[in-house]
Amino acid sequence: AAGPLKDGFGRRIDYLRVSVTDRCDLRCSYCLPKDFKGFETPSNWLDHEEMARLVGLFVGLGVSKVRLTGGEPLLRRGVAGLAGTIAAMPGLKDLSVSTNGTQLARHAQDLRAAGVDRLNVSLDTLDAAAFGKITGRDCLESVLAGLAAARRAGFAPIKLNSVVHAATPEAQVRRLLEYALAQGFVLRLIEPMPMGDCGRSFAHTDLNEMGAILAAQAGLVPAVVGSGAGPARYWTTGRGVPVLGVITPMSRHFCASCNRVRLGVDGTLYLCLGQEDQVPLGRLLRGGASDAELTRAILAGIAAKPERHEFASRPEHIVRFMAQTGG
Ligand code: GTP
Ligand code: 5AD
Ligand code: SF4
Repeated sequence: AAGPLKDGFGRRIDYLRVSVTDRCDLRCSYCLPKDFKGFETPSNWLDHEEMARLVGLFVGLGVSKVRLTGGEPLLRRGVAGLAGTIAAMPGLKDLSVSTNGTQLARHAQDLRAAGVDRLNVSLDTLDAAAFGKITGRDCLESVLAGLAAARRAGFAPIKLNSVVHAATPEAQVRRLLEYALAQGFVLRLIEPMPMGDCGRSFAHTDLNEMGAILAAQAGLVPAVVGSGAGPARYWTTGRGVPVLGVITPMSRHFCASCNRVRLGVDGTLYLCLGQEDQVPLGRLLRGGASDAELTRAILAGIAAKPERHEFASRPEHIVRFMAQTGG
């Protein structure tokens, strides 16, 4: 097997996030405009075989963690089949899915059976009216049913991703934390980033203090630094189980320890969530590139991975929406 993939800053890249569709059945205000028309043309969507070929090259290069995301990944037909193919790749250690949960009740069993280890589910509020306002659809009940089904199917941990901004009522977040504690879920509060035309109006939120206050109220303690990779910083129960986290790309970014790159639905390799640097792997693949040629393109891309995002200093400069990049 190959040695670890390293970028130009010495960061080890072992995590690939794959957007299996850029479509979504919700229109969360910080993510997609209500009348969004810029979705990828279906003829450019990679089919499962093409996606699996690219993912397989990354796994062959030492990527051991893969996340299926979107858009809403469960809108992609046959996504459990693709998950099964990826789960079976030698060298793959962790397969996860990020979903909005609306279709999860139907899919939880199949995803679990296909070998998906972990689920992250977006949930910003337990108030049905507030949910409708944020997402544009009144379907909180289907998300809660999806979460219940996921728990029954045996996923662990299940993480709740909540985008929280300065105007979010603290009581709304406290209710989410109580729900998470009661259900055995991990709650993560996320600072909104300015992506596409969305999120800009919220994009100077600092969640460190809210996290610390909620943690203290619930009797939680900060997790030991270095416990677990990824952007979140956690608070744990007395027994060391993480239950609350904050993801703070705006107030305290985590780019120095970045371990990830992203693949769009058309096979574009995005080297950073907050930068335009990309490699058209899908176009190369469809143009007949060999595995060796694709591998060279991947390595050149990773060597040129940008140091960090500039959401705070250049909030106007991002043209992609989250759904296009892979959330
Ligand atoms: P775990 O492996 O379960 O910790 O998941 P994750 O945090 O890698 O993935 P998830 O899809 O749950 O991401 C949660 C949120 O964190 C995303 O919606 C983004 O808001 C943010 N995020 C994830 N990755 C990045 C990243 O590379 N850069 C920045 N700036 N934000 C990110
Ligand atoms: N800033 C931060 N997080 C975002 N998400 C979508 N748009 C943004 C944004 N502008 C999050 C969703 C979901 C994840 C996949 O991406 O809340 O949890
Ligand atoms: Fe990595 Fe870019 Fe995200 Fe920073 S913004 S953590 S460099 S992908």
